[in-house]
Amino acid sequence: MSSVSTSTPGVLKQNFRFRCIACGDLSDVASQDFRCGQCGDLLEIAYPTWNEKTPDAAKLKSAWQTRRLSSSPVDLSGVWRYRDLLPALDDEQQVITLREGNTPLYELPRCARITGVQHLFAKHQGMNPTGSFKDAGMTVAATFARCAGFRWVACASTGNTSASMAAYAARGGMRGLVLVPEGKISWSKLSQALDYGAVTCQLRTDFDGCLKLLQELVRKAPVYQLNSINPFRLEGQKTLAIELLEQLDWQVPDHIIVPGGNLGNSSAIGKALLEMRELELISRLPKLSVIQAEGANALVRTLREAGGKRLVSVPAETRATAIRIGNPASWKKAAHVLEATGGACEQVTELEIAHAKAEIGAEGIGCEPASAVTLAGLKKLVKQGFVKAEETVVLVLTGNLLKDPDFTIDFHRGVMFGGGPDSAALDSLRHPPIVLDATLDAVMRTLERFN
Ligand code: F0G
Repeated sequence: MSSVSTSTPGVLKQNFRFRCIACGDLSDVASQDFRCGQCGDLLEIAYPTWNEKTPDAAKLKSAWQTRRLSSSPVDLSGVWRYRDLLPALDDEQQVITLREGNTPLYELPRCARITGVQHLFAKHQGMNPTGSFKDAGMTVAATFARCAGFRWVACASTGNTSASMAAYAARGGMRGLVLVPEGKISWSKLSQALDYGAVTCQLRTDFDGCLKLLQELVRKAPVYQLNSINPFRLEGQKTLAIELLEQLDWQVPDHIIVPGGNLGNSSAIGKALLEMRELELISRLPKLSVIQAEGANALVRTLREAGGKRLVSVPAETRATAIRIGNPASWKKAAHVLEATGGACEQVTELEIAHAKAEIGAEGIGCEPASAVTLAGLKKLVKQGFVKAEETVVLVLTGNLLKDPDFTIDFHRGVMFGGGPDSAALDSLRHPPIVLDATLDAVMRTLERFN
Protein backbone atom coordinates (compact mmCIF):
# COMPACT_ATOMS: atom_id res chain seq x y z
CA MET A 1 0.00 0.00 0.00
CA SER A 2 1.42 3.42 -0.84
CA SER A 3 1.32 6.17 1.72
CA VAL A 4 0.36 9.79 2.01
CA SER A 5 3.24 11.81 3.35
CA THR A 6 3.72 15.28 4.68
CA SER A 7 6.87 15.44 2.60
CA THR A 8 5.35 14.67 -0.80
CA PRO A 9 6.41 16.90 -3.68
CA GLY A 10 5.03 20.37 -3.37
CA VAL A 11 4.27 20.06 0.32
CA LEU A 12 6.79 21.21 2.92
CA LYS A 13 7.67 18.85 5.74
CA GLN A 14 6.59 21.40 8.24
CA ASN A 15 3.73 22.29 10.48
CA PHE A 16 1.78 19.06 11.06
CA ARG A 17 1.99 15.36 11.86
CA PHE A 18 -0.53 12.53 11.89
CA ARG A 19 -1.59 11.45 15.39
CA CYS A 20 -3.56 8.34 16.28
CA ILE A 21 -6.64 9.20 18.33
CA ALA A 22 -6.33 5.98 20.37
CA CYS A 23 -2.64 5.24 21.02
CA GLY A 24 -1.29 8.74 20.30
CA ASP A 25 1.35 7.43 17.87
CA LEU A 26 2.80 10.32 15.85
CA SER A 27 3.89 9.90 12.25
CA ASP A 28 4.93 11.95 9.23
CA VAL A 29 3.18 9.57 6.87
CA ALA A 30 -0.27 8.02 6.73
CA SER A 31 -1.31 4.92 4.84
CA GLN A 32 -4.03 5.33 2.24
CA ASP A 33 -6.74 4.08 4.57
CA PHE A 34 -5.75 6.79 7.08
CA ARG A 35 -5.51 4.32 9.95
CA CYS A 36 -2.83 4.06 12.59
CA GLY A 37 0.01 1.69 11.65
CA GLN A 38 0.23 0.58 15.29
CA CYS A 39 -3.36 0.02 16.42
CA GLY A 40 -5.57 0.62 13.36
CA ASP A 41 -7.61 3.49 14.82
CA LEU A 42 -8.30 6.81 13.08
CA LEU A 43 -5.72 9.54 12.61
CA GLU A 44 -6.00 13.24 13.23
CA ILE A 45 -3.76 16.14 12.30
CA ALA A 46 -1.62 17.57 15.10
CA TYR A 47 0.46 20.76 15.05
CA PRO A 48 3.58 20.18 17.21
CA THR A 49 5.01 23.49 15.96
CA TRP A 50 2.37 25.32 18.03
CA ASN A 51 4.22 24.16 21.15
CA GLU A 52 7.44 25.80 20.00
CA LYS A 53 5.89 28.99 18.72
CA THR A 54 2.25 29.56 19.62
CA PRO A 55 0.47 31.68 17.01
CA ASP A 56 -0.53 35.03 18.54
CA ALA A 57 -4.33 35.32 18.86
CA ALA A 58 -4.56 39.07 18.23
CA LYS A 59 -2.29 38.83 15.19
CA LEU A 60 -4.32 35.95 13.77
CA LYS A 61 -7.62 37.82 14.15
CA SER A 62 -6.18 40.87 12.49
CA ALA A 63 -4.60 38.86 9.62
CA TRP A 64 -7.94 37.12 8.93
CA GLN A 65 -9.70 40.50 8.78
CA THR A 66 -7.06 41.97 6.46
CA ARG A 67 -7.27 39.01 4.09
CA ARG A 68 -10.94 39.87 3.47
CA LEU A 69 -9.70 42.85 1.47
CA SER A 70 -7.45 40.76 -0.74
CA SER A 71 -8.41 39.32 -4.11
CA SER A 72 -6.01 36.37 -4.16
CA PRO A 73 -7.75 32.96 -4.43
CA VAL A 74 -6.46 31.74 -1.04
CA ASP A 75 -7.83 34.83 0.68
CA LEU A 76 -11.17 34.73 -1.16
CA SER A 77 -11.67 31.20 0.12
CA GLY A 78 -13.46 31.20 3.46
CA VAL A 79 -11.40 28.12 4.32
CA TRP A 80 -7.85 29.02 3.27
CA ARG A 81 -8.26 32.49 4.77
CA TYR A 82 -7.74 30.68 8.10
CA ARG A 83 -4.75 28.72 6.76
CA ASP A 84 -2.67 29.52 9.86
CA LEU A 85 -4.67 26.75 11.60
CA LEU A 86 -4.49 24.33 8.64
CA PRO A 87 -1.79 22.03 7.24
CA ALA A 88 0.59 24.30 5.35
CA LEU A 89 1.39 24.16 1.66
CA ASP A 90 4.67 25.47 0.35
CA ASP A 91 2.97 27.04 -2.64
CA GLU A 92 -0.45 28.64 -2.25
CA GLN A 93 -0.99 28.42 -6.01
CA GLN A 94 -1.65 24.70 -5.54
CA VAL A 95 -4.94 25.28 -3.80
CA ILE A 96 -8.08 23.90 -5.48
CA THR A 97 -10.79 26.34 -4.49
CA LEU A 98 -14.34 27.24 -5.46
CA ARG A 99 -14.46 30.09 -2.91
CA GLU A 100 -15.98 27.77 -0.36
CA GLY A 101 -16.81 28.90 3.15
CA ASN A 102 -17.89 32.55 3.42
CA THR A 103 -21.27 31.23 4.53
CA PRO A 104 -23.89 33.46 6.13
CA LEU A 105 -24.92 33.55 9.76
CA TYR A 106 -28.65 34.25 9.85
CA GLU A 107 -30.84 35.18 12.78
CA LEU A 108 -33.91 32.94 13.13
CA PRO A 109 -36.47 35.13 14.97
CA ARG A 110 -39.51 32.95 14.24
CA CYS A 111 -37.81 29.72 15.23
CA ALA A 112 -36.48 31.50 18.32
CA ARG A 113 -40.06 32.32 19.34
CA ILE A 114 -41.20 28.76 18.65
CA THR A 115 -38.43 27.23 20.73
CA GLY A 116 -38.43 29.87 23.46
CA VAL A 117 -34.78 30.90 23.19
CA GLN A 118 -33.91 34.57 22.83
CA HIS A 119 -30.86 34.42 20.54
CA LEU A 120 -31.03 31.83 17.79
CA PHE A 121 -28.77 31.78 14.72
CA ALA A 122 -28.23 29.49 11.75
CA LYS A 123 -24.77 29.06 10.27
CA HIS A 124 -25.84 28.04 6.78
CA GLN A 125 -23.27 25.72 5.27
CA GLY A 126 -25.76 24.92 2.53
CA MET A 127 -24.66 28.19 0.93
CA ASN A 128 -21.35 26.63 -0.09
CA PRO A 129 -20.53 26.22 -3.82
CA THR A 130 -21.97 22.71 -4.14
CA GLY A 131 -24.66 23.33 -1.54
CA SER A 132 -23.27 21.61 1.54
CA PHE A 133 -20.66 21.88 4.29
CA LYS A 134 -18.56 19.24 2.53
CA ASP A 135 -16.85 21.86 0.36
CA ALA A 136 -14.96 23.31 3.33
CA GLY A 137 -13.22 19.99 3.91
CA MET A 138 -12.96 19.03 0.28
CA THR A 139 -10.88 22.04 -0.76
CA VAL A 140 -8.18 21.00 1.73
CA ALA A 141 -8.26 17.25 1.15
CA ALA A 142 -8.48 17.52 -2.65
CA THR A 143 -5.55 19.94 -2.65
CA PHE A 144 -3.43 17.51 -0.63
CA ALA A 145 -4.49 14.64 -2.89
CA ARG A 146 -3.19 16.52 -5.92
CA CYS A 147 0.00 17.55 -4.12
CA ALA A 148 0.61 13.90 -3.27
CA GLY A 149 0.39 13.10 -6.99
CA PHE A 150 -2.86 11.12 -7.03
CA ARG A 151 -4.75 10.84 -10.31
CA TRP A 152 -7.86 9.28 -8.77
CA VAL A 153 -9.87 10.39 -5.75
CA ALA A 154 -12.83 8.43 -4.37
CA CYS A 155 -15.55 8.52 -1.77
CA ALA A 156 -18.52 6.63 -0.41
CA SER A 157 -21.43 8.95 0.13
CA THR A 158 -25.02 9.62 1.04
CA GLY A 159 -24.85 12.26 -1.71
CA ASN A 160 -23.27 15.50 -0.54
CA THR A 161 -19.71 14.26 -0.24
CA SER A 162 -19.94 12.82 -3.74
CA ALA A 163 -21.27 16.08 -5.18
CA SER A 164 -18.51 18.04 -3.51
CA MET A 165 -15.74 15.60 -4.33
CA ALA A 166 -16.79 15.40 -7.97
CA ALA A 167 -16.63 19.20 -8.25
CA TYR A 168 -13.21 19.58 -6.61
CA ALA A 169 -11.77 16.64 -8.56
CA ALA A 170 -12.94 18.26 -11.78
CA ARG A 171 -11.52 21.66 -10.79
CA GLY A 172 -8.24 20.02 -9.82
CA GLY A 173 -7.89 17.94 -12.98
CA MET A 174 -8.29 14.61 -11.15
CA ARG A 175 -10.64 11.69 -11.81
CA GLY A 176 -13.38 11.06 -9.27
CA LEU A 177 -14.89 7.69 -8.28
CA VAL A 178 -18.18 7.85 -6.40
CA LEU A 179 -19.77 4.94 -4.51
CA VAL A 180 -23.37 5.61 -3.44
CA PRO A 181 -26.13 3.30 -2.18
CA GLU A 182 -28.52 2.63 -5.03
CA GLY A 183 -31.92 4.30 -4.62
CA LYS A 184 -31.04 5.82 -1.25
CA ILE A 185 -29.71 9.25 -2.14
CA SER A 186 -31.52 12.24 -3.59
CA TRP A 187 -31.50 12.76 -7.36
CA SER A 188 -30.25 16.33 -6.90
CA LYS A 189 -27.06 15.12 -5.31
CA LEU A 190 -26.61 12.32 -7.83
CA SER A 191 -27.12 14.81 -10.67
CA GLN A 192 -24.26 16.94 -9.35
CA ALA A 193 -21.80 14.03 -9.33
CA LEU A 194 -22.83 13.15 -12.90
CA ASP A 195 -22.55 16.70 -14.17
CA TYR A 196 -19.10 17.23 -12.63
CA GLY A 197 -17.95 14.12 -14.49
CA ALA A 198 -17.30 11.59 -11.73
CA VAL A 199 -17.46 7.85 -12.42
CA THR A 200 -20.59 7.23 -10.37
CA CYS A 201 -21.40 3.72 -9.12
CA GLN A 202 -24.75 3.01 -7.49
CA LEU A 203 -24.04 0.00 -5.30
CA ARG A 204 -26.71 -2.43 -4.13
CA THR A 205 -26.02 -1.80 -0.45
CA ASP A 206 -26.31 1.01 2.10
CA PHE A 207 -23.83 3.82 2.90
CA ASP A 208 -22.01 1.67 5.44
CA GLY A 209 -21.54 -1.01 2.78
CA CYS A 210 -20.16 1.58 0.33
CA LEU A 211 -17.67 2.88 2.90
CA LYS A 212 -16.49 -0.62 3.79
CA LEU A 213 -15.86 -1.37 0.13
CA LEU A 214 -14.00 1.90 -0.36
CA GLN A 215 -11.71 1.09 2.56
CA GLU A 216 -10.85 -2.21 0.85
CA LEU A 217 -10.34 -0.50 -2.50
CA VAL A 218 -7.84 2.09 -1.25
CA ARG A 219 -5.69 -0.69 0.19
CA LYS A 220 -5.44 -2.25 -3.28
CA ALA A 221 -5.46 0.65 -5.77
CA PRO A 222 -3.71 4.03 -6.02
CA VAL A 223 -6.89 5.86 -5.15
CA TYR A 224 -7.01 8.67 -2.60
CA GLN A 225 -10.03 8.50 -0.33
CA LEU A 226 -11.90 11.69 0.39
CA ASN A 227 -14.33 10.50 3.06
CA SER A 228 -14.20 12.22 6.42
CA ILE A 229 -11.92 9.44 7.66
CA ASN A 230 -9.38 11.54 5.77
CA PRO A 231 -8.10 13.92 8.45
CA PHE A 232 -7.42 16.72 5.93
CA ARG A 233 -11.21 16.90 5.36
CA LEU A 234 -11.79 17.61 9.03
CA GLU A 235 -9.12 20.31 9.08
CA GLY A 236 -11.02 22.20 6.37
CA GLN A 237 -14.34 21.68 8.14
CA LYS A 238 -12.85 23.27 11.28
CA THR A 239 -13.06 26.64 9.57
CA LEU A 240 -16.86 26.63 9.93
CA ALA A 241 -16.32 27.25 13.66
CA ILE A 242 -13.57 29.82 13.17
CA GLU A 243 -15.65 31.82 10.69
CA LEU A 244 -18.65 31.55 13.01
CA LEU A 245 -16.75 33.00 15.97
CA GLU A 246 -15.42 35.78 13.76
CA GLN A 247 -18.98 36.58 12.64
CA LEU A 248 -20.03 36.73 16.31
CA ASP A 249 -17.18 39.17 17.02
CA TRP A 250 -15.51 36.44 19.06
CA GLN A 251 -18.40 36.42 21.54
CA VAL A 252 -18.70 32.71 22.35
CA PRO A 253 -22.23 31.30 21.91
CA ASP A 254 -23.54 29.02 24.64
CA HIS A 255 -24.54 26.20 22.31
CA ILE A 256 -23.66 24.92 18.83
CA ILE A 257 -25.98 22.21 17.54
CA VAL A 258 -25.02 20.00 14.62
CA PRO A 259 -26.55 16.98 12.84
CA GLY A 260 -24.73 13.68 13.25
CA GLY A 261 -24.24 11.10 10.48
CA ASN A 262 -20.77 9.70 9.98
CA LEU A 263 -19.78 12.17 12.74
CA GLY A 264 -16.94 13.90 10.90
CA ASN A 265 -18.43 17.37 11.07
CA SER A 266 -19.12 17.38 14.79
CA SER A 267 -15.57 16.09 15.33
CA ALA A 268 -14.15 18.87 13.16
CA ILE A 269 -16.13 21.62 14.86
CA GLY A 270 -15.14 20.28 18.27
CA LYS A 271 -11.46 20.13 17.27
CA ALA A 272 -11.65 23.74 16.11
CA LEU A 273 -13.22 24.86 19.38
CA LEU A 274 -10.57 23.10 21.46
CA GLU A 275 -7.76 24.51 19.31
CA MET A 276 -9.21 28.02 19.43
CA ARG A 277 -9.28 27.84 23.21
CA GLU A 278 -5.73 26.47 23.30
CA LEU A 279 -4.57 29.40 21.16
CA GLU A 280 -6.59 31.84 23.32
CA LEU A 281 -8.73 32.96 20.41
CA ILE A 282 -11.64 32.22 22.75
CA SER A 283 -11.63 32.00 26.53
CA ARG A 284 -14.41 29.44 27.02
CA LEU A 285 -16.07 26.63 25.06
CA PRO A 286 -19.61 26.51 23.72
CA LYS A 287 -21.43 23.26 24.39
CA LEU A 288 -21.39 21.26 21.14
CA SER A 289 -24.44 18.99 20.81
CA VAL A 290 -25.12 16.35 18.17
CA ILE A 291 -28.61 15.45 16.96
CA GLN A 292 -29.43 12.25 15.06
CA ALA A 293 -32.50 10.86 13.39
CA GLU A 294 -34.18 8.27 15.61
CA GLY A 295 -33.80 5.70 12.82
CA ALA A 296 -30.04 6.29 12.55
CA ASN A 297 -29.11 6.87 16.18
CA ALA A 298 -25.81 5.03 16.57
CA LEU A 299 -24.12 7.77 18.63
CA VAL A 300 -27.14 8.22 20.90
CA ARG A 301 -27.12 4.51 21.67
CA THR A 302 -23.33 4.35 21.91
CA LEU A 303 -23.40 6.99 24.65
CA ARG A 304 -26.51 5.71 26.44
CA GLU A 305 -25.98 1.98 26.24
CA ALA A 306 -22.20 1.65 26.14
CA GLY A 307 -21.08 4.79 27.99
CA GLY A 308 -19.24 5.89 24.84
CA LYS A 309 -16.81 2.97 25.20
CA ARG A 310 -17.76 0.93 22.13
CA LEU A 311 -19.82 1.63 19.03
CA VAL A 312 -23.42 0.43 19.02
CA SER A 313 -24.17 0.08 15.27
CA VAL A 314 -27.76 0.27 14.05
CA PRO A 315 -29.60 -0.66 10.84
CA ALA A 316 -30.18 2.91 9.61
CA GLU A 317 -33.50 4.12 8.21
CA THR A 318 -34.65 7.73 7.79
CA ARG A 319 -35.97 10.00 5.06
CA ALA A 320 -33.18 12.41 6.02
CA THR A 321 -31.03 10.35 3.66
CA ALA A 322 -27.86 12.40 4.22
CA ILE A 323 -27.59 10.98 7.74
CA ARG A 324 -28.86 7.48 6.97
CA ILE A 325 -25.74 5.93 8.54
CA GLY A 326 -25.66 3.11 11.07
CA ASN A 327 -21.95 2.58 11.59
CA PRO A 328 -20.40 6.06 11.93
CA ALA A 329 -16.64 6.07 11.31
CA SER A 330 -15.77 9.04 13.53
CA TRP A 331 -17.83 8.05 16.58
CA LYS A 332 -14.81 8.12 18.93
CA LYS A 333 -13.78 11.60 17.83
CA ALA A 334 -17.36 12.85 18.25
CA ALA A 335 -17.77 11.24 21.68
CA HIS A 336 -14.54 12.95 22.75
CA VAL A 337 -15.58 16.46 21.68
CA LEU A 338 -19.04 16.06 23.21
CA GLU A 339 -17.43 15.20 26.50
CA ALA A 340 -14.79 17.94 26.23
CA THR A 341 -17.37 20.66 25.54
CA GLY A 342 -20.14 19.30 27.78
CA GLY A 343 -22.56 18.89 24.87
CA ALA A 344 -25.60 16.65 24.61
CA CYS A 345 -26.63 13.96 22.15
CA GLU A 346 -30.30 13.59 21.20
CA GLN A 347 -32.50 11.89 18.64
CA VAL A 348 -35.58 13.16 16.83
CA THR A 349 -38.42 11.46 14.98
CA GLU A 350 -39.26 11.68 11.28
CA LEU A 351 -42.26 13.83 12.13
CA GLU A 352 -40.18 16.21 14.23
CA ILE A 353 -37.65 16.53 11.39
CA ALA A 354 -40.35 17.39 8.82
CA HIS A 355 -41.95 19.86 11.20
CA ALA A 356 -38.66 21.64 11.95
CA LYS A 357 -37.67 21.71 8.28
CA ALA A 358 -40.89 23.50 7.38
CA GLU A 359 -40.32 26.00 10.20
CA ILE A 360 -36.82 26.81 8.91
CA GLY A 361 -38.28 27.10 5.42
CA ALA A 362 -40.88 29.57 6.70
CA GLU A 363 -37.98 31.83 7.78
CA GLY A 364 -37.13 32.22 4.07
CA ILE A 365 -33.97 30.20 4.48
CA GLY A 366 -34.72 26.52 4.08
CA CYS A 367 -32.41 23.55 4.41
CA GLU A 368 -32.31 19.87 3.66
CA PRO A 369 -33.96 17.40 6.06
CA ALA A 370 -30.71 16.30 7.72
CA SER A 371 -30.01 19.91 8.72
CA ALA A 372 -33.46 20.33 10.28
CA VAL A 373 -32.67 17.80 12.99
CA THR A 374 -30.84 20.66 14.71
CA LEU A 375 -34.00 22.70 15.30
CA ALA A 376 -35.99 19.61 16.24
CA GLY A 377 -33.23 18.69 18.68
CA LEU A 378 -33.10 22.20 20.12
CA LYS A 379 -36.79 21.95 21.03
CA LYS A 380 -36.01 18.82 23.05
CA LEU A 381 -32.93 20.33 24.70
CA VAL A 382 -34.97 23.38 25.77
CA LYS A 383 -37.69 21.14 27.22
CA GLN A 384 -35.05 19.17 29.13
CA GLY A 385 -33.64 22.44 30.55
CA PHE A 386 -30.24 21.77 28.92
CA VAL A 387 -30.62 24.95 26.83
CA LYS A 388 -31.89 28.00 28.75
CA ALA A 389 -34.06 30.77 27.35
CA GLU A 390 -31.43 33.50 27.71
CA GLU A 391 -28.64 31.50 26.05
CA THR A 392 -27.26 32.05 22.55
CA VAL A 393 -27.69 29.07 20.25
CA VAL A 394 -26.25 28.42 16.79
CA LEU A 395 -27.73 25.71 14.57
CA VAL A 396 -25.41 24.38 11.87
CA LEU A 397 -27.49 23.96 8.71
CA THR A 398 -25.44 21.55 6.67
CA GLY A 399 -27.25 21.37 3.32
CA ASN A 400 -29.23 23.54 0.94
CA LEU A 401 -33.02 23.26 0.58
CA LEU A 402 -32.60 22.36 -3.11
CA LYS A 403 -30.60 19.24 -2.25
CA ASP A 404 -33.73 17.17 -1.63
CA PRO A 405 -36.79 18.60 -3.40
CA ASP A 406 -38.72 15.30 -3.21
CA PHE A 407 -38.85 15.54 0.57
CA THR A 408 -40.09 19.13 0.47
CA ILE A 409 -42.71 18.48 -2.20
CA ASP A 410 -44.02 15.32 -0.52
CA PHE A 411 -44.33 17.27 2.72
CA HIS A 412 -46.23 20.23 1.28
CA ARG A 413 -48.50 18.03 -0.82
CA GLY A 414 -49.41 16.04 2.26
CA VAL A 415 -47.99 12.82 0.86
CA MET A 416 -45.75 12.63 3.91
CA PHE A 417 -47.67 11.98 7.14
CA GLY A 418 -50.79 12.98 5.20
CA GLY A 419 -54.06 12.06 6.85
CA GLY A 420 -52.38 10.39 9.83
CA PRO A 421 -53.12 11.30 13.43
CA ASP A 422 -50.22 13.77 13.43
CA SER A 423 -51.22 15.39 10.19
CA ALA A 424 -53.29 18.18 11.74
CA ALA A 425 -50.31 19.64 13.61
CA LEU A 426 -48.46 19.95 10.33
CA ASP A 427 -51.27 21.36 8.22
CA SER A 428 -50.59 24.99 9.11
CA LEU A 429 -47.03 24.53 7.80
CA ARG A 430 -48.03 22.95 4.50
CA HIS A 431 -48.18 25.14 1.40
CA PRO A 432 -49.31 22.81 -1.38
CA PRO A 433 -49.26 24.02 -4.98
CA ILE A 434 -52.69 24.96 -6.33
CA VAL A 435 -53.78 23.94 -9.83
CA LEU A 436 -56.19 26.46 -11.39
CA ASP A 437 -57.76 27.36 -14.68
CA ALA A 438 -55.74 30.16 -16.27
CA THR A 439 -58.32 32.87 -15.53
CA LEU A 440 -58.07 36.13 -13.62
CA ASP A 441 -61.15 35.15 -11.67
CA ALA A 442 -59.63 31.91 -10.42
CA VAL A 443 -56.46 33.68 -9.26
CA MET A 444 -58.45 36.52 -7.61
CA ARG A 445 -60.60 34.04 -5.69
CA THR A 446 -57.49 32.24 -4.50
CA LEU A 447 -56.00 35.53 -3.30
CA GLU A 448 -59.16 36.21 -1.31
CA ARG A 449 -59.14 32.75 0.19
CA PHE A 450 -55.67 33.29 1.65
CA ASN A 451 -56.24 36.92 2.68
N1 F0G B 1 -25.97 16.95 6.99
C1 F0G B 1 -25.81 16.70 5.70
C2 F0G B 1 -26.58 17.53 4.74
C3 F0G B 1 -24.94 15.69 5.26
O1 F0G B 1 -24.78 15.46 3.97
C4 F0G B 1 -24.25 14.91 6.22
C5 F0G B 1 -23.36 13.82 5.83
C6 F0G B 1 -24.46 15.23 7.57
C7 F0G B 1 -25.32 16.25 7.92
C8 F0G B 1 -23.76 14.49 8.65
O2 F0G B 1 -22.43 14.89 8.75
O3 F0G B 1 -21.38 12.68 8.46
O4 F0G B 1 -20.06 14.63 9.25
O5 F0G B 1 -21.79 13.59 10.71
N2 F0G B 1 -23.20 13.41 4.64
C9 F0G B 1 -22.19 12.47 4.20
C10 F0G B 1 -22.19 12.34 2.71
C11 F0G B 1 -22.09 11.24 4.95
O6 F0G B 1 -21.76 11.30 2.17
O7 F0G B 1 -22.61 13.27 2.02
P1 F0G B 1 -21.35 13.90 9.33
